[in-house]
Amino acid sequence: MRGEMVVLRPPCESDVEAAYAWDRDPELAAWNGRPPIKISFEAARRDYLARWKDSSVKTFIIEPRTDGDEPIGMATLYDFRNEGCELGIKIGRDDLRGYGHGAEAVELLLSYCFDVMGLKAVRGSTLAHNVRMQRVFEKLGFAESGDGSIISRFDNKRYTELFYERRWDA
Ligand SMILES: CC(C)(COP(=O)(O)OP(=O)(O)OC[C@H]1O[C@@H](n2cnc3c(N)ncnc32)[C@H](O)[C@@H]1OP(=O)(O)O)[C@@H](O)C(=O)NCCC(=O)NCCS
Repeated sequence: MRGEMVVLRPPCESDVEAAYAWDRDPELAAWNGRPPIKISFEAARRDYLARWKDSSVKTFIIEPRTDGDEPIGMATLYDFRNEGCELGIKIGRDDLRGYGHGAEAVELLLSYCFDVMGLKAVRGSTLAHNVRMQRVFEKLGFAESGDGSIISRFDNKRYTELFYERRWDA
């Protein structure tokens, strides 16, 4: 899938290193409410390759359209049910965030979900202090569908989580 700034493609073996670096990054882990992974590169590699083959989860590598083919992030569609799915996304490097890559990637994923997969809804959630992700949801027509309280596995503190949903006919 090609946008103006990013390309989304399926992951391959050469993406394992980037995926491992992102999953060990404490900042990214905090945004996801879980601890950085501690397992070895080999164990993580096995996990990734198995997950990327699992047809119940769709993983996409985000690459910039212009600056070569270095992966800059990852997006996942999962929990397919009730004609919808859940969306997760990360842009790996802090200095690449805030330039529109995330929003365009979500826009491409929405087209994929609605036009290719025929889904009727895409759901997402984020921590209440994750303003960037909330902006991405809002810009792309997601409606806030509720909130909840969670204990983050990153620091065992309580946070508010906001839930969003984008209907195909919104
Ligand atoms: C959340 C994330 C995917 C968004 O992708 P991105 O490429 O950074 O986002 P975009 O540039 O497309 O859009 C960000 C929006 O937030 C705004 N923004 C950027 N930095 C901001 C900041 N520090 N505070 C508030 N708003 C900010 C931008 O201005 C933009 O809104 P606008 O288009 O109305 O101006 C990315 O920042 C990321 O991976 N963050 C870390 C991991 C994460 O939070 N993942 C989501 C977990 S639910």
